[in-house]
Amino acid sequence: MNCGTYPPALIDSFGRKVDYIRLSITDRCDFRCVYCMPEDVQFLPRDELLSLEECARIVKAFVSLGVKKVRITGGEPLVRKDALWLFNEIGHLPGLNELVVTTNGSQLEHQAEALKRAGVRRVNISLDSLDATRFRRITRVGDLGKVLRGIMAAKQAGFESVKLNTILMRDINEDEAISMVGFAIVQGIDIAFIEEMPLGQVNYARNSTYVSNEETLKLLRARYDLIGSVETTGGPARYWRVPNTDTKVGFISPHSHNFCESCNRVRVTSKGELYLCLGQENKVNLAPFLRQFPNDDRPLKEAIVNSMRVKPKGHYFNLKRAEPAVIRFMSHTGG
Ligand code: 5AD
Ligand code: SF4
Repeated sequence: MNCGTYPPALIDSFGRKVDYIRLSITDRCDFRCVYCMPEDVQFLPRDELLSLEECARIVKAFVSLGVKKVRITGGEPLVRKDALWLFNEIGHLPGLNELVVTTNGSQLEHQAEALKRAGVRRVNISLDSLDATRFRRITRVGDLGKVLRGIMAAKQAGFESVKLNTILMRDINEDEAISMVGFAIVQGIDIAFIEEMPLGQVNYARNSTYVSNEETLKLLRARYDLIGSVETTGGPARYWRVPNTDTKVGFISPHSHNFCESCNRVRVTSKGELYLCLGQENKVNLAPFLRQFPNDDRPLKEAIVNSMRVKPKGHYFNLKRAEPAVIRFMSHTGG
């Protein structure tokens, strides 16, 4: 197989280098966040999911093609049985510089230490409210206390960074920006605000709850002395530092600041679909390459290399449109 460059690299037709994958290991979740999935969500039948061995093969194939960063995500990745096996299997893979995880925090109380030991460097924890009743309303079933204990366990475990991911929604939790940043400062951790994206059909109008990061930044600057920072974690977030604290405040703004130009990532779903863009349909199904060639990774790698040709230029989220940009939910593609 010839992928054109040595050392190997995945380069798409717009010249962007892909060195980061986000692998969803389950579409299941123990929460039902209103913006993320319907209350009566139908999850994939278990026999359609990749096995954890297949997940490991996918990660190894990508790393052999120059991928340096892997994020394990979901649904809620840590509710998948034996998820830790996978983290241990790939955590110390030569060439993989950064293994990170996105979680809702509900399992961290018991798993943070083992994740750290497996080689996970950073964790992102979704947290949309510090008020237990509101937290329940947004997640429909989540228990704030458990998540807060999970955050403490993550701090204790000594990851390089612990970051909160927060989606602010109009009239639901928009008034919590300042207190969430205050909480991050007290805990000595980071926080990023993510604009709600039109992924999947929800039972409210997304543009009625949309809060722009521009608005949030303005609000925060009235309270905190934020200093622009050129720091990056290789993602689309733009960071600000809060002086005299250990906290960075990030903004991921798919609407107001389109970052597709520098996109360096692709996503693999829990049934093995390789999506080239979060907001587009372009995909390649990797499952057949795993199953027809159980002992040969070359066809799999070739499929990955070829997929670069169909990576689209960008997403086109449009707040004025009532229908979602894509019909699949974030929990399908991987958050
Ligand atoms: N827009 C933005 N972020 C979303 N997430 C889930 N659905 C959406 C959406 N529609 C985020 C969650 C979590 C991660 C798994 O994905 O907040 O941080
Ligand atoms: Fe689960 Fe995260 Fe989706 Fe909430 S946003 S339902 S925690 S996957």
